[in-house]
Amino acid sequence: MQTLGRSNLIDFKGISMINIYCDNWENYKNFQARPDDVLIVSYPKAGSTWMSNILDLLYFGNTAPERQTSVEIFLRVPFLEAAFAGVPTGVEMAEKLSTRPRIMKTHYPVQLLPKSFWEQNCKIVYVARNPKDNAVSFYHFDRANMTAPHPGEWKDYLENFIDGRSEFGPWYDHVRGYWEKKQTYSNIHYMFYEDMVGDTVREFEGLCSFLGLSPSVEDRERVIQGVHFEQMKQNKMTNYTTVPGFDTKETTFMRKGKVGDWKNHFTVAQNEKLEERYKQKMKNTTLQFRTEI
Ligand code: A3P
Repeated sequence: MQTLGRSNLIDFKGISMINIYCDNWENYKNFQARPDDVLIVSYPKAGSTWMSNILDLLYFGNTAPERQTSVEIFLRVPFLEAAFAGVPTGVEMAEKLSTRPRIMKTHYPVQLLPKSFWEQNCKIVYVARNPKDNAVSFYHFDRANMTAPHPGEWKDYLENFIDGRSEFGPWYDHVRGYWEKKQTYSNIHYMFYEDMVGDTVREFEGLCSFLGLSPSVEDRERVIQGVHFEQMKQNKMTNYTTVPGFDTKETTFMRKGKVGDWKNHFTVAQNEKLEERYKQKMKNTTLQFRTEI
């Protein structure tokens, strides 16, 4: 298991990865899901922490409100593939969860998801974010994330992202993989970060109906208030300021929470290059993204 310190990208089962997310591969792959587990899946930096807090508050905000102020989000919603030295792995944390349902998250692409999630017909909430903002968010995150490879200069980082050399593999394959899986596996609720920013209440309603939940007006209000960007930014249990490997002098985890920040980072040429690659990689799909709202 990896201790804190910068790492290198390695090739793992056909995608770029870092050791902390594949060192526990065998246990991850063999994870035994239960039918009522709820799994959050996203490409890194697409809004998985936001979704984690939404689901945690939705299921447990009423009966165990103290979770919000006393338990860090990554303990409430374990990151399954994580294997940091000195702390339980994501799989161990998930196995110890006493809550029902168990809520957990992963960033692995569809072809590498533990098969028990499919076998148990678990509910999967997928969060997708447009590639431009996703790349920007990932870049800033990697500046502060001391276990990731050093991101270097933005222009080089973006080239790698466009070419698919990022942790957890190419963005295009990730978002398409789960989108296409939806054709044969109906228990995936596919959500867009842009929609969540644009109309949080509507997206929350859609999520509840997928989960078969009808929260009371008070419970709805509690969730919507509790997952607001500013609220989560202030809350030490959701803003990652307690995590030793995250250097908040570089950037904050709850950074901007906006759609369209890419415009402050991309040159015209960089934008053209990404769009051209996007067209190649995303042809023959009905999946569409908004880069502004
Ligand atoms: P930015 O870096 O663009 O601000 P993940 O949790 O998958 O790592 O994704 C992190 C991104 O989601 C960050 O984007 C973060 O600010 C954003 N985010 C987290 N909580 C949010 C919220 N409540 N509202 C809007 N964006 C949120």
